[in-house]
Amino acid sequence: MLRLFGLLAFAGSVLSQAALPYTDPENGINFWGFTDVVHNVTWGYVFPPLATSGPNPNEYIGEVVVPVVNQWIGFALSGSMIDSLLVAAWPNNGKIVVSTRYATSNVLPDVYPGPTITTLPSTTINSTHWKWVFRCQNCTSWLGGSIDVTSPSNIPAWCVSTIPVDDPADPGTSMVQHTDYGFYFFDFSSAHVTAAQYNNWAAGGTGPGSGGPTTTTTKTTTTSTAPPTATASPYDYIIVGGGPGGIITADRISQAGKSVLLLERGGPSTWETGGRYQPPWAQGKANLTKFDVPGLFESMFTDPDSFWWCTDINVFAGCLLGGGGAVNGALYWLPSDQDFSTNNGWPQEWTNHQPYTAMLKARLPPTDAPSTDGKRYLEQTSTVVSQLLAPQGYQNVTINDNPDSKDRIMGYAAYDFIGGQRGGPVATYLQTALGRKNFKLQLYTNVLNVVRNGSQITGVTTNDTSVAGGFYPLNPNGRVILSGGTYGSARVLFRSGIGPTDMLNLVKNDPVAGPNMPPSSQWINLPVGYNVSDNPSINLVFTHPSINDYDNWADVFTDPPAADVSQYLANRSGILAQASPRLNFWSALGASDGETIWMQGTARPGAASWNTSYAFNQTQMFTITAYLSYGVKSRGRIGINAALVGTPLVNPWFVNPLDKSTLITGLQNIVSTMGQVPGLEMITPDNKTTIPAYVNAYDPATMDSNHWVGSNIIGTTAGQAVVDVNTKVFGTNNLFVVDASIIPALPYGNPHGQVMSMAEQAAAKILALAGGP
Ligand SMILES: Cc1cc2nc3c(=O)[nH]c(=O)nc-3n(C[C@H](O)[C@H](O)[C@H](O)COP(=O)(O)OP(=O)(O)OC[C@H]3O[C@@H](n4cnc5c(N)ncnc54)[C@H](O)[C@@H]3O)c2cc1C
Ligand SMILES: *[C@@H]1O[C@H](CO)[C@@H](O)[C@H](O)[C@H]1NC(C)=O
Ligand SMILES: *[C@@H]1O[C@H](CO)[C@@H](O)[C@H](O)[C@H]1NC(C)=O
Ligand SMILES: *[C@@H]1O[C@H](CO)[C@@H](O)[C@H](O)[C@H]1NC(C)=O
Ligand SMILES: *[C@@H]1O[C@H](CO)[C@@H](O)[C@H](O)[C@H]1NC(C)=O
Ligand SMILES: *[C@@H]1O[C@H](CO)[C@@H](O)[C@H](O)[C@H]1NC(C)=O
Ligand SMILES: *[C@@H]1O[C@H](CO)[C@@H](O)[C@H](O)[C@H]1NC(C)=O
Ligand SMILES: *[C@@H]1O[C@H](CO)[C@@H](O)[C@H](O)[C@H]1NC(C)=O
Ligand SMILES: *[C@@H]1O[C@H](CO)[C@@H](O)[C@H](O)[C@H]1NC(C)=O
Ligand SMILES: *[C@@H]1O[C@H](CO)[C@@H](O)[C@H](O)[C@H]1NC(C)=O
Ligand SMILES: *[C@@H]1O[C@H](CO)[C@@H](O)[C@H](O)[C@H]1NC(C)=O
Ligand SMILES: *[C@@H]1O[C@H](CO)[C@@H](O)[C@H](O)[C@H]1NC(C)=O
Ligand SMILES: *[C@@H]1O[C@H](CO)[C@@H](O)[C@H](O)[C@H]1NC(C)=O
Repeated sequence: MLRLFGLLAFAGSVLSQAALPYTDPENGINFWGFTDVVHNVTWGYVFPPLATSGPNPNEYIGEVVVPVVNQWIGFALSGSMIDSLLVAAWPNNGKIVVSTRYATSNVLPDVYPGPTITTLPSTTINSTHWKWVFRCQNCTSWLGGSIDVTSPSNIPAWCVSTIPVDDPADPGTSMVQHTDYGFYFFDFSSAHVTAAQYNNWAAGGTGPGSGGPTTTTTKTTTTSTAPPTATASPYDYIIVGGGPGGIITADRISQAGKSVLLLERGGPSTWETGGRYQPPWAQGKANLTKFDVPGLFESMFTDPDSFWWCTDINVFAGCLLGGGGAVNGALYWLPSDQDFSTNNGWPQEWTNHQPYTAMLKARLPPTDAPSTDGKRYLEQTSTVVSQLLAPQGYQNVTINDNPDSKDRIMGYAAYDFIGGQRGGPVATYLQTALGRKNFKLQLYTNVLNVVRNGSQITGVTTNDTSVAGGFYPLNPNGRVILSGGTYGSARVLFRSGIGPTDMLNLVKNDPVAGPNMPPSSQWINLPVGYNVSDNPSINLVFTHPSINDYDNWADVFTDPPAADVSQYLANRSGILAQASPRLNFWSALGASDGETIWMQGTARPGAASWNTSYAFNQTQMFTITAYLSYGVKSRGRIGINAALVGTPLVNPWFVNPLDKSTLITGLQNIVSTMGQVPGLEMITPDNKTTIPAYVNAYDPATMDSNHWVGSNIIGTTAGQAVVDVNTKVFGTNNLFVVDASIIPALPYGNPHGQVMSMAEQAAAKILALAGGP
């Protein structure tokens, strides 16, 4: 299911980068802060002393030291882009222009009055850097939010942009989305100084002040506890990552009697797994979390507390139990023969997928009527879109009844929801695994690298401080399986000395990860990160008088319609029992080179963004997202940056111009019969913009469909592939990858159905491979 990459909310979880105390040598101020190693921007803050009684002071002193390539910077001490106080600044004519903003949704934030920000005299602008030192008063709380200056664990967000704001003289200027952003860990409770020091600096003074040493800096600079000596027990199989790939593999391998340790970096998701993040309307009434209720899918992207996204990956990735499968739209397509064909890059050994797809279907049958009463709700969008498509020859079908038929067919959206709740592998495969004594699931454990001696893996290094060296060993002949996702598994490989040399050198230069790498004589050069694909997708936004856009899903987490809540709580039926998509369709498009590229459409009530100069009725809005799927020609590259953050290096959309021209044709086909649907209006693009002009101007960063595959591509030849036909990493004896990253090319539909069938087959191949435990 598509979401806009450009709209990624700031989010929070525990990070390796932390603010530490430092003294700026130029102004003598004792800040706590950190320097981002990619952009070399320093972010520093210091708070006045806590109040001895009554409310704490509502201010702080901050500084940013910014290389001049950056045109503007911004930060949010609360770590969320939504419902947060955002401060942006940039130099203009020798002065710093400051802008405070606030956003309730993922759009250009509005100017927000309230804070009093004073630029302090040690601010400088020279040929290489601009340094802004400032006092921010009335800055610790704002409409709908605050920071807790006594809290030891906070995750501030930062962003930078190399693209200037539209009007640098105007604090209220518009600007395009930042070009990069990130997070770090900050112990606010330690970053306080004496009143004398603070007042001196706040008044523009410099130097150590007259108040003596800072009050508290001992907290994180000393560790009195002895290093742990406990040794972790060895396992036959260590599986890294509890997403769809990892869970299914862990279940099948533990079912075969092997001892299995499943390590997941995130925390629980659904109630059944221990998750407790409940919508207010369920609290005290039902054991339901945000991750259980299908209708809350759209709210994943608009929540100020979106702790479930990985904060060290620059595209949407789920960092919690279930991975992407715990937060996705759950659109579920049984894979077709074509999806696993040699034509789509699979080795011959993989083409007989049917037994594995049948096993998957038996555990997790798809449904296109997820409400437990069997009725369909909020179906106006499917009615209107089927009226639009029927004159183009589309047949109305049950999509999963015939996975190989994907030309001019349409049908109700299908999901892996169960009993009106999120089902997927967490509710099925994981539960059987948890019932076995030889299976252990461990949450909040981040695998940093595999430990290897040449080609032999001996275990994994984690951030678990309760065992010596964070080390989890394998039994003799044991195996490690990486299932960290397209970005997560690639990073573990880089940190283990496996991948292209440029990526491995970034790891080597990292002060923490570098020393854990094997020597360069043992590096294994494989095309990790190359060959990735993700569906290029373009949104068309329409209105029709029959549509109910469900308030664009805006209040669905906090305050949905009372009747829908009571129906869902009583019976798990109604609108909340389904995610937003209502209709899906496919057609085969001829590319001008004579080959065929398939287009998928997903229609849903509401819209993420729109752009029209005409007035329109928002409550009648719906979106058709059109993606290129099977046969898409473009490939990109993903990797890490110097901060070891997972990131696209070459975007995989429209690299090959035939993809763009083919999708333009597909979009023109979609709208070609608009005249046959009375009352249907397209508002984005509106009638002032043609489809080609719209596609040509489309921001590539918003073409992301979150369907990344291919960074550890499967194949028969080491130079062209990362894993062999048994999913074993070339050049190793006992390291495997089973997740979306091994998929060589996109399937017809949203990919997690194929990921799950692939994991069934991979588990069988790994168990059958000689030499294991
Ligand atoms: C917003 C969004 C919407 C989507 N909508 C759909 C949809 O509707 N239908 C569909 O078919 N697909 C959808 N997808 C794609 C689908 O969710 C993914 O293809 C699928 O989840 C991939 O599964 P995976 O097992 O490869 O990896 P992931 O789901 O990414 O799981 C990886 C897991 O490993 C963990 N992990 C990573 N690194 C480490 C480490 N070093 N140590 C320990 N744990 C680690 C992560 O926390 C995560 O739990 C969507 C994806 C997103 C992000
Ligand atoms: C950041 O600093 C490092 C080391 O000084 C340098 O190699 C790198 O090019 C700098 N990056 C930027 C974006 O200025
Ligand atoms: C502080 O900011 C709030 C908005 O967050 C504003 O309503 C209030 O007037 C401000 N107080 C002062 C003293 O400026
Ligand atoms: C420019 O300013 C930065 C930040 O204050 C400082 O580190 C740097 O030395 C200055 N460079 C020059 C050439 O003055
Ligand atoms: C919710 O779960 C708790 C245990 O975690 C249980 O005691 C309670 O009965 C459950 N409530 C409902 C409504 O199912
Ligand atoms: C598809 O056909 C079925 C059965 O005829 C019908 O109930 C349904 O409304 C149709 N769906 C659409 C989207 O037209
Ligand atoms: C390890 O990392 C995870 C998430 O990345 C985090 O939740 C956990 O607290 C970390 N553990 C330790 C001991 O730091
Ligand atoms: C690494 O493997 C080699 C043989 O391949 C062996 O001689 C050596 O002892 C091993 N080193 C360690 C530290 O296990
Ligand atoms: C993967 O990428 C590499 C490097 O660009 C290329 O040589 C190789 O042909 C690609 N493999 C496939 C299967 O696309
Ligand atoms: C739940 O379902 C039952 C049986 O269909 C029905 O009688 C009842 O009204 C439903 N409850 C709500 C709140 O919709
Ligand atoms: C909105 O559409 C107009 C053309 O109608 C275009 O010039 C403008 O760039 C678009 N704005 C955005 C933010 O896409
Ligand atoms: C907007 O659409 C809704 C739902 O169709 C309708 O109730 C409302 O009257 C419309 N508003 C206007 C201003 O036309
Ligand atoms: C363009 O759309 C607007 C708003 O729907 C409509 O008023 C106008 O007549 C349309 N113009 C043309 C040339 O179709």
